[in-house]
Amino acid sequence: MARTDLDRRNVLTGAGALALTAPAASWLTPAPASAAPLQASAAPFRLTAAPTRHTLTKKGTSAEVDAWGYNGSVPGPLLRFVRGDRLDITFVNDLPEPSAVHWHGLRPPNAMDGAAPLTQPPVPPGETFRYAFDLNDAGTYWYHTHFRAWNQQDRGLYGVLIVDETVPPAVDRDLTLVLDDWVITPDGQLSERFGNFHELSHAGRLGNLATVNNAVDPQIDVAAGERIRLRFVNVANAQIFAVVLEGHRPVVVAQDGNAVTPYRADAPLVIGPAQRIDVMVDAVGAPGARHPILARTLREEVRLATLSYARAPGGSGLVGTPVPQLEANARPTLDLAGAKRVPLRMEGGAMGGMRGAMVNGRMMGMRQMMREGKFWALNGIAGDMDEPLVRLGVGETVLVEMVNDTAFAHAMHLHGMHFIEISRDGRPAARRSWRDTTLLAPGERATIAFAGESPGRWMLHCHMVEHQSAGMMTFVEVEGERA
Ligand code: C2O
Ligand code: CU
Repeated sequence: MARTDLDRRNVLTGAGALALTAPAASWLTPAPASAAPLQASAAPFRLTAAPTRHTLTKKGTSAEVDAWGYNGSVPGPLLRFVRGDRLDITFVNDLPEPSAVHWHGLRPPNAMDGAAPLTQPPVPPGETFRYAFDLNDAGTYWYHTHFRAWNQQDRGLYGVLIVDETVPPAVDRDLTLVLDDWVITPDGQLSERFGNFHELSHAGRLGNLATVNNAVDPQIDVAAGERIRLRFVNVANAQIFAVVLEGHRPVVVAQDGNAVTPYRADAPLVIGPAQRIDVMVDAVGAPGARHPILARTLREEVRLATLSYARAPGGSGLVGTPVPQLEANARPTLDLAGAKRVPLRMEGGAMGGMRGAMVNGRMMGMRQMMREGKFWALNGIAGDMDEPLVRLGVGETVLVEMVNDTAFAHAMHLHGMHFIEISRDGRPAARRSWRDTTLLAPGERATIAFAGESPGRWMLHCHMVEHQSAGMMTFVEVEGERA
């Protein structure tokens, strides 16, 4: 094992960081727009979770950490389908503890949602579970463990799932950038202090080593004249990345897999935990030029990757032409005027001033809550899953009026349905696009709207997974016969 100096000072800050390059990970191998799906719809697939040695690369060297991966890799295999395909995956649990797989952002029947223990019991070690459902939504999604995520997801149990549009947009290159951050100890190992008191009560587990597709500042080779689709996927437990592509003007085409009216990103692309953003980038750099992809995180400024104009100029003449709108996914009709209004007050955490909350049906003071590993609450309840936040019928519209009454940001995620943001801090939202995860800054208010789709119990939780386990978790119940 190559020993490296993967420490925070050298890697994430200072002039040294800006001079780093790493070999492009194989993950960066571009998929042509017409790439055959990695998994044919007719071919059932096995996805095995197991401990694995995981390599983080930096500057031609690498560090190996003890991780957990799917099919021996972190991220797990890129699952690629075409809209209308059927996903048919048998999950095999070779971990020393139970687990389950959640298909983040997709809208499967409730029994296939993988939200253990709400929609299925977790799969015990040595056992399997077959997930099978139709993929009706096109876009950039991901899959991850949904059991003890603050531990399992951080160790590497996640992967990207792409559903290609029936008619994909014309591009010269289609690249996926998986953003993660790791807590690496001074001797180059993955810190195993998962879910410690500080992480649970503050911003969640924030890393000291940011990676893109497993590498620190990988070089992404492009050619002048190409139009590139970049799919950003934030798989970090709690980190927020505000991304800038120096020298380029990306056009946002999708958020959380859902097509938006294309718009030029004049501000950094803010990508919270679990969120995805697809952008079109026209490669307008000069041959030989190198442009950093930078991010501001909750802690510092990092160089995520470098766009290197190493290839001979090329492209198919798309640069400078209008960016087309992607195919929309099917939508329920929202009845905003007749909607049920549901308040959702987020409270607790360090410096939150919360006195106590209901835990397992009992009122507890903050001190007692802490002993139960609970620090946060939604409407005064810390993580109880007995009663839904709201019951709604299929087709019925609900407005959830969220108030972040805490000192930290939260990434609220709804399973099984997509929502639109109606307002922020009382002002109409700038863009009413469909999402599955929305970020709320400390003190912020946001109102989202959605309609009941498939019957069942659908989780609504903070995707800072430490917050989720420490109380920021509830569910909504769509009434009807669960499929
Ligand atoms: Cu990305 Cu409840 O999950
Ligand atoms: Cu949170």
